[in-house]
Amino acid sequence: MDKRIEALIDFLDNAHSVFHAVAGLEKVLLDAGYQALNEWNAWDLIPGGKYYLKRNDSAILAFRIPQGNPKGFLLSASHADRPCFKVKENGELKGAYTRLAVERYGGMLISPWLDRPLSVAGRVMVETESGIESRLVDIDRDLLLIPNVAIHMNRQANDGYKWNPAVDTLPLMGSKEAAGKFQTILEEAAGGKILGHDLYLYIRQKASVWGLEEEYISSAALDDLECAWCCTQGFLNAAESSAIPVLSVFDSEEVGSASLQGAASDLLEVTLQRICSCLNLPLPQMLAQSFMVSADNAHAIHPNHPELADAANTPVMGKGVVLKYNANQRYTSDGVSAAIFRKVCAKAEVPVQTYCNRADLPGGSTLGNISLAHVSVPSVDIGLPQLAMHSCYETAAISDAIALENAMAAYYGAALERTASGYTLK
Ligand code: CO
Repeated sequence: MDKRIEALIDFLDNAHSVFHAVAGLEKVLLDAGYQALNEWNAWDLIPGGKYYLKRNDSAILAFRIPQGNPKGFLLSASHADRPCFKVKENGELKGAYTRLAVERYGGMLISPWLDRPLSVAGRVMVETESGIESRLVDIDRDLLLIPNVAIHMNRQANDGYKWNPAVDTLPLMGSKEAAGKFQTILEEAAGGKILGHDLYLYIRQKASVWGLEEEYISSAALDDLECAWCCTQGFLNAAESSAIPVLSVFDSEEVGSASLQGAASDLLEVTLQRICSCLNLPLPQMLAQSFMVSADNAHAIHPNHPELADAANTPVMGKGVVLKYNANQRYTSDGVSAAIFRKVCAKAEVPVQTYCNRADLPGGSTLGNISLAHVSVPSVDIGLPQLAMHSCYETAAISDAIALENAMAAYYGAALERTASGYTLK
């Protein structure tokens, strides 16, 4: 298997929560020589320096300072969160069995979560002698399962079923006698008394490469860890450009981005301000020379439901990176940004497909236009074509992931200069 796909799979298989996904990206940045910054300390940035920072351990930004006088920022934005179930406070329910109390995070497809082994991962705050400490936990074994109701007790199960998340999707953990054990397992995994937690269910099934030519990949959270990973690889593999390359991976996209660490926060804006003030650069002028790639997966035409796709803008898995359009700016692409992105892809020899919603289907939105409210630069929305978006096991094509890595390397290495009538791109 291609080394790049092996690396993607290794990342996906260890990214059991948004916190673990960010830890996986942090590891590749550290391995590439990036230095950690904290928002609460002063920064001393130097030309040639490579840096990253995290917020809430669930969003991560990385950048490097070129030699010479930087011209603008080359930005990308993707997200590390996924629709899933979050464990509630007082997370155990007693009865004939012991179950966990969970609620929905984001707009998931519910039925794929049933009848498969699940576990719990996330972040806990542990009491220490000096205060509190954030620790990642991953129970990492088959611990839970949400059982279906037998067909004999619900003859309508195959005719459309309205799921009640307060009833139907509570996972079974053990017998009646298991009551109280969840906290014990957690505290053992965390190594201390837990004062607060953000814990999520995840499926135990690993990523799989499959198909007649092994052309497809299925995994949890391809939306949007596939883009987060490929943007990171492109960012790391790019040649030096005259701009400051900035990688941003946010949390909270699946719940509207409005959090401390989402795309609607001040994280990117404040970071760019700090970079400019450290290097004595004029922020407005820097922004006027900048560009943003908002990378979040796109819907491929469905093999069984081609009628749900637009008549003319129908991405197919395996046929390249998708440029996403929406007249109402749910996607930020316009004539200018699409032209720039096409030029970058041509340079990388990456095929480009286009996506529009069928005009009578509302479709989704993403973080591009939310981020632009804070950092207003020309922006393009792109993604990789995939099936079953927001299922707990999604499907895409491996050739598209490699195409995006190549496109992002070309993008981050580009010399993009604004002129009176357009741009020059080298
Ligand atoms: Co997404």
